[in-house]
Amino acid sequence: MAGRLEGKVALVTGAARGTGEVIARRFVDEGARVAIGDVLDEPAAQVAASLGDAAMALHLDVTSPEDWRAAVDATVARFGKLDVLVNNAAVLHLAALEDTPPDAFERLLRVNLMGPFLGMQAAAPALRDAGRGAIVNVGSVDALQGKNGVAAYAASKWGLRGLAKVAAVELGRGGTRVNTVCPEAGSGDMIRPYVPEGVDPEFVHGLGQPFLRYQRDREHGERLGDVANMVLFLASDESLSCTGSDFAVDSGNTELNRVKGAPGA
Ligand SMILES: NC(=O)c1ccc[n+]([C@@H]2O[C@H](COP(=O)([O-])OP(=O)(O)OC[C@H]3O[C@@H](n4cnc5c(N)ncnc54)[C@H](O)[C@@H]3O)[C@@H](O)[C@H]2O)c1
Repeated sequence: MAGRLEGKVALVTGAARGTGEVIARRFVDEGARVAIGDVLDEPAAQVAASLGDAAMALHLDVTSPEDWRAAVDATVARFGKLDVLVNNAAVLHLAALEDTPPDAFERLLRVNLMGPFLGMQAAAPALRDAGRGAIVNVGSVDALQGKNGVAAYAASKWGLRGLAKVAAVELGRGGTRVNTVCPEAGSGDMIRPYVPEGVDPEFVHGLGQPFLRYQRDREHGERLGDVANMVLFLASDESLSCTGSDFAVDSGNTELNRVKGAPGA
């Protein structure tokens, strides 16, 4: 049976580990060939090697326009075209607004917002040539709500949603769709520096309030798989009517509220 991304070529940023790695593996499972772009060269090379001929590793710092140009050129040279760009790479800084250093704020905007902007600019012509291009941005639940401790991160991720909507209008003419996935769960590596010693960073992911009774029994890896499945759907021709939209993968935690004592609780 043909895979859901059979014949597609994708570039996934930040795919040396975590969510991006899960996305890259899922894409290859579904028949895609994938370029794995990251600043972590050795882990990226290992992920690519484990995927055989269907993958290649690229040194890609998403804040560098030169790296972006070289990454798109290398992907097209190796695999013949580019159908899908996944802007997944990002960094985190957790601090109260009043304690957030301006350079940390700027760094998050550079990686999490300017990175995808530069990627869209660099990839747009190749995606247009492919005919049915797709850009999928990995946002966050912090792009859908206000929460303490994430001033820089939320600003970058809300900005990314806005950028995606403009890109959806402008690139849609050339047949490219642009959507944003807003997960609750992510890699433990990203939040580990902020989790107290002795607490498993994966335990704090994707649990929220128990709106879905089975969610607490599921493995962290299964929740990352849910994120990858949403990215897969938006990257594939199964979602040709979807553009300019945000897709939460959060067990309902940003939209729902169970009021104890009220009917139906
Ligand atoms: N970890 C979470 O709790 C969480 C929750 C919701 C959404 N997300 C989002 O999921 C996405 C993936 O993050 P993750 O959770 O897998 O974290 P992660 O830290 O494991 O992965 C991020 C990857 O991006 C790479 N990266 C960082 N800066 C880069 C740069 N300048 N250029 C290229 N690559 C760079 C890192 O090397 C790493 O491989 C991010 O967009 C993140 O914001 C994470």
